[in-house]
Amino acid sequence: MTTLVSNNFILPAFTGLILHGRPGFESELEAELIYRSTALAGSHEVKKQDEGLLVSSLSMDVPLSERSPLLMEHMQLWWPQWIFARQASACFAYLPALNTQDRITDLVQAIPSFLHVGDIVFESTDSNESKKLSRLFKALEHRLTERLRQQGTLRPLAPFRLHLVFRDGQTAWLGLSPIQASSHWPMGIPRLKMPGAAPSRSTLKLDEALQWLSEEEQIRLLKPGMKVVDLGAAPGGWTWQMIQRGMLVTAVDHGSMEGTLMQSGMVEHVSADGFVYRPRKTVDWLLCDMVEQPRRIAQLLAQWLQNNHARCIIANLKLPMKRRWEEVQLCLDILHKAARTLPTTPVVRARQLYHDREEITVWVLPTRLM
Ligand SMILES: C[S@@+](CC[C@H](N)C(=O)[O-])C[C@H]1O[C@@H](n2cnc3c(N)ncnc32)[C@H](O)[C@@H]1O
Repeated sequence: MTTLVSNNFILPAFTGLILHGRPGFESELEAELIYRSTALAGSHEVKKQDEGLLVSSLSMDVPLSERSPLLMEHMQLWWPQWIFARQASACFAYLPALNTQDRITDLVQAIPSFLHVGDIVFESTDSNESKKLSRLFKALEHRLTERLRQQGTLRPLAPFRLHLVFRDGQTAWLGLSPIQASSHWPMGIPRLKMPGAAPSRSTLKLDEALQWLSEEEQIRLLKPGMKVVDLGAAPGGWTWQMIQRGMLVTAVDHGSMEGTLMQSGMVEHVSADGFVYRPRKTVDWLLCDMVEQPRRIAQLLAQWLQNNHARCIIANLKLPMKRRWEEVQLCLDILHKAARTLPTTPVVRARQLYHDREEITVWVLPTRLM
């Protein structure tokens, strides 16, 4: 196996990328991969693509010794930018016929002895079939972790994450990612419990969107007493998340809000059109979950930004059936243009989260202390 050095770490030769997204959105993920590959002087050929898992083979127009470090560098750059990928790693081994009597030996042999990793995740596809693999993962995890710790592969401060991606009990890909540029949740899926008191399942979408904020952002941007406007708030799942964090919410919707939420004294319900409503003073957060054409929502968010109505935004863009990748690009273009007109350009991010269906989540966040 070819070995390559990057920042004093020896890297294996990578054959392509392993990406996890939402089942049914593989073609959007592929379009995004092709779009990103052009910056890499390379091209990806997709080898496997179903149930939200995409495995590609990569050809790059650079000397072999530069390929792996360059791919790692790009993975760092791409991580905050991925829209349709919740998880990403670079593939260095494909094991199509694992010995079902002793998978550990096969896996250990495929991991180069020079590799140092700080974390290990077991992953599969996002399907019912693959849920059956969780029992196998439980059986393997402890023993494999111990083996890798004993032989010095698993070290607390190593900057890479090892991904063991199983297709079934006999087939696996091994991948590597920079720890800072991948999710510690297997397949990028956070295990969130539906809170019994929340008025709707939508609450999990906002919970997940808030969990994707970095620790620093959570401390800086989520503070008790902050003012929130929630457009399309009824029955109140998103509002509920914010009042749990001690914030005060103006909930805008012609529909009714759940009773106990209103009794909290932290919610004001305004029965109005979310496209017309504007706050009297700048608020800390704008939330928007109205079911509308995505570009209309993007234009509304852009107006709020340009008129300094809100400092931070989380919104859902409901995607059309066709040309979703193009529509997302168009919406992000609207938001980036608005962001660039501000004295301090906020960051604009977008991602299809696990709890998002035919939709994506966008964040617009200030980069400075508020
Ligand atoms: C998906 S639901 C929102 C669910 C909510 N986020 C929750 O967690 O419970 C969409 C809401 O948008 C509201 N809506 C749609 N168009 C609207 C508009 N123009 N102005 C205000 N609300 C609107 C609907 O009445 C509906 O309650």
